[in-house]
Amino acid sequence: MQTVHTIQAVREFVNAAKQQGKKVGFVPTMGNLHAGHIHLIAQAKTQADVVICSIFVNPTQFGANEDFGSYPRTLEADSQQLQAAACDLLFAPSAQEMYQDGFSQHTVVTVNGLSEQLCGQFRPTHFAGVATVVSKLFNIVQPDMAFFGEKDFQQLAVIRCLTQELAFPIEIVGVATQRAEDGLALSSRNGYLSAEERAKAPMIYQMLQQLKTAIENGHRDYTMLCDAAMLHLQKSGFDPDYIAVKRAIDLQDANADDTNLVLLVAARLGKTRLIDNVAFRLNG
Ligand code: PAJ
Repeated sequence: MQTVHTIQAVREFVNAAKQQGKKVGFVPTMGNLHAGHIHLIAQAKTQADVVICSIFVNPTQFGANEDFGSYPRTLEADSQQLQAAACDLLFAPSAQEMYQDGFSQHTVVTVNGLSEQLCGQFRPTHFAGVATVVSKLFNIVQPDMAFFGEKDFQQLAVIRCLTQELAFPIEIVGVATQRAEDGLALSSRNGYLSAEERAKAPMIYQMLQQLKTAIENGHRDYTMLCDAAMLHLQKSGFDPDYIAVKRAIDLQDANADDTNLVLLVAARLGKTRLIDNVAFRLNG
């Protein structure tokens, strides 16, 4: 695997690959890689000829009081994992390379309608930061396909929308959430959890499963179901931001007759903010 730090070096690598007729797959990350990220690389390997992973802890998607400063930066270990996964190129730019004029950019990509709700309500600048850096990475790498985890369901919806509306010639591939054996969705932020919190954390996935079962069994008062689930999490020591039942296709509020659904949750446990979701279809 080659490692490069400049936009120009990525462009040269990709131009050479495309000249050989190779299909380029791209996996953007913020590093501190775990099995969820590596699964994205593995998926990309099965569908593309050349796989590029970026590692960039993007400052513009963190709020002022969030964990940008403490976000784990483990480039050496990440690089070894990518090598083992047969990734072809690691792009690890500096903040200076990505934001030459500082972080207050003139050009911002905002995906209205999808960005204000759910996590956006609690992280108001987050999705503009994500949408802008992903657009920039798409322009730098110019991949044929890009791979994103369903773990960040709202992020995936934002990226699908901007890709279509800005006419990026890129196929967006959503990849299933990878979980620990006890059901907790793998996340770089799980490392913030104390042993006691880590033992409690799988409750949010269990709660989603219980909600799903209730809906499959015919419950349709989603406000009541979500209120009860909020209370349940609060009593168990979580500080939930939201629990919601949405239409999987456009993240609008689900009605009783919608069948393609996603349940989404964000909850704090101590200083760690956990998110998770379960998407499913109702029969008939
Ligand atoms: P990061 O949190 O590092 O995640 C990189 C990619 O890995 C995202 O597509 C995310 O959805 C996926 N991922 C994380 N945990 C996963 C899991 N348990 N199972 C499957 N996929 C998982 O998301 C970001 O970085 C950033 O916002 C980024 C898109 C790179 C823009 O800065």
